[in-house]
Amino acid sequence: MKMTVLAIAICLSVLLCGCRSDVQTVTEDSEDNLIVVGFSQVGAESEWRVANTESIKAALSSENGYELIYSDARQEQENQIRAIRTFIQQNVDYIVFSPKVETGWNSILQEAKEADIPVIMIDRDIDVQDEALYRVYIGSDFYKEGDKAVQWLEELLEKQGRRDEPIKIVHIQGTMGSTAQVGRTEALEQAVKGNPNWEIVAQECGDFTRAKTYEVVREILKQTRDIDVVYCENDGEALGAIDAMEEAGLKCDASDGVIVISFDATRLGLEYCLKGKIGLDVECNPLQGPYVDWIIRRLELGERVEREKHIDETQFDCFTITQEMIDDRKY
Ligand code: AHR
Repeated sequence: MKMTVLAIAICLSVLLCGCRSDVQTVTEDSEDNLIVVGFSQVGAESEWRVANTESIKAALSSENGYELIYSDARQEQENQIRAIRTFIQQNVDYIVFSPKVETGWNSILQEAKEADIPVIMIDRDIDVQDEALYRVYIGSDFYKEGDKAVQWLEELLEKQGRRDEPIKIVHIQGTMGSTAQVGRTEALEQAVKGNPNWEIVAQECGDFTRAKTYEVVREILKQTRDIDVVYCENDGEALGAIDAMEEAGLKCDASDGVIVISFDATRLGLEYCLKGKIGLDVECNPLQGPYVDWIIRRLELGERVEREKHIDETQFDCFTITQEMIDDRKY
């Protein structure tokens, strides 16, 4: 394990430069036998994100042999870059981060590579020219998630005898440029190309939050109420869209009203699915902590690890979900 004694001096210098830092310091009495991990999280925009943070913190705990330095970037890529730079200066053993967007990481990851600190990316992917800039990526296959959603919609419309009817879709996107948004958007847009009767009548960013989506959908409803499907890129957005539609007197019901599609399958999202308000909730699994722990242990032993891993995920729809399924969920 590396020594981490420079931490306090570095954080002091960051403060003296007038820069904001939410990065915790490594304690002076850090035990040398702990594996020091710097973790830069995007923020706390959703239930999913909170569950993801808790999973990492639980897996990389001191009881498990880690010293975790946690940094919340509050949705700002610059904060993530600053946190990673601080981790490098602190000479941590590993850097774990969940990138807000796919681009803009080359320089900072080059610095990590030069410092010989392995980088493990979780959740979202990045677009870099040199693959050696990170060791491992563990996250979701977001295009596959979107594809599951559009296939479910095609089958539902077929069963309802609406295969050739005009289908008007409102599309609420997640944080623009994030892998979750890019993959889920691409799957929908391809399906729209393949179904000439489907039309995206509005496409707006809800930033993965309930509050923003509520405002955005309220505005959309001033332009049109002729909506068959609302495709939201996470549960927070689905809940915000439902709030706005119900307030405007629209019924959210996959059998007899607006079909709401969502992603994440958090407990709250699934409760809405059980009530029939969300038609389909495609799982996005945030419980990535145990995988990160497993990978670090392999790397510590000098063993080879898979470079990219997509987590297995399922889906729930309002026709088959039960209370027992929700009770079994861990987030
Ligand atoms: O990157 C995963 C996405 O980010 C989740 O779908 C969303 O809830 C989160 O904020």
